[in-house]
Amino acid sequence: MKLVKHIAGLGYGSRKDVQWMFREGRITDADGEVLYADDPLDHDSIRIDGEPLDPPPGLLLMLHKPVGFTCSTKDPGRVVFDLFPPRYRHRDPALSTVGRLDRDTSGLLLLTDDGQLLHRIIAPKSKLPKVYLASLADDLRGDAAAIFASGTLMLDGEKTPLLPAELEVLGTRRARLTLHEGRYHQVRRMFAAVGNHVAGLHRERIGGLLLDDLPAGKWVALDEAARTRLFAPDATA
Ligand code: URA
Repeated sequence: MKLVKHIAGLGYGSRKDVQWMFREGRITDADGEVLYADDPLDHDSIRIDGEPLDPPPGLLLMLHKPVGFTCSTKDPGRVVFDLFPPRYRHRDPALSTVGRLDRDTSGLLLLTDDGQLLHRIIAPKSKLPKVYLASLADDLRGDAAAIFASGTLMLDGEKTPLLPAELEVLGTRRARLTLHEGRYHQVRRMFAAVGNHVAGLHRERIGGLLLDDLPAGKWVALDEAARTRLFAPDATA
């Protein structure tokens, strides 16, 4: 019953549901020939109600997260999983976000079902740059860039100083900030540490991956070339 397990693992239903889908003739090959549950598994040729299957496990997705959605699965409000087909919540292995963005932050969010890949992206030693655009409530202090670059800034409640971060001033209340680590609410806490307040925050890049013109709320599955770009940040800079 390899086929049943595979299709159920993609979130199309329980194994029992999928067995019924076979009995009802809803699962076919690309030519419309009805498949049986004990047929060999050939992912790319399978159709359900005429539609190709979702991608197999090993997914890396890039979402343009809109403001107003949380990364949690349990929040009673809008969550990022609402932006995917409902069956994506029921995949096994499960999809999870690679780190988090706050509800009020928009921009590039990765999701994967590959634990090793997730670890490789977030591991402190990977130091993948994450680039944020911040709109600020107050005028930037002249020494903010030097403080962020110092490698000595301590945030409240932390035991180690922040790694040096690069601040590019784009206007009196607008800046681009590049981080090489990911601590809780890091960008907001850094600006608070220099007496400011983040009014709007958007992540535009992780490693060498950019959102490009992906509209807010939309997502794409990343291919091998994009995965290579993710780990080659200098290719985009
Ligand atoms: N830093 C923050 O403060 N918020 C985010 O969502 C991401 C980084």
